Amino acid sequence: MIKWQQSLSVGIDMIDEEHKELFNRVNDVFDACMKQQGQDKVYEILEFLREYTVKHFGDEEKLLEKYKYPELPQHKKLHEKFISDIQEIENDVKKNGVSVSIVTTLNRKLVDWLINHISKVDKKYGEYIKAHPLN
Ligand SMILES: [Fe+2]
Repeated sequence: MIKWQQSLSVGIDMIDEEHKELFNRVNDVFDACMKQQGQDKVYEILEFLREYTVKHFGDEEKLLEKYKYPELPQHKKLHEKFISDIQEIENDVKKNGVSVSIVTTLNRKLVDWLINHISKVDKKYGEYIKAHPLN
């Protein structure tokens, strides 16, 4: 399970709220795996997670565009990679069902990535935005 904590705050309420929702949806995937809700259900919840992730990254990128954040292009690439990682997991579930290795992959590819991305890459834009207010 992944838990949001204050130390992960990027200093922008809307983004913090979206990160919390993202964590909820990652936890829903774990939950479905643990409760052995089956391949179709896990697949569906992964899709639900991916849809929200796309929305969230879109919101983030729009914000960074507004603030003319210089590192936006690199940031976008990281987002794209994450989305394709979710897609890969979806394909894996569709092909091989819900295995123990799926849970390991979820931890490594989703949880570790998110914590690392938020605490390093997202926080950096948080600081930039604070230092460069729009009028
Ligand atoms: Fe981000």
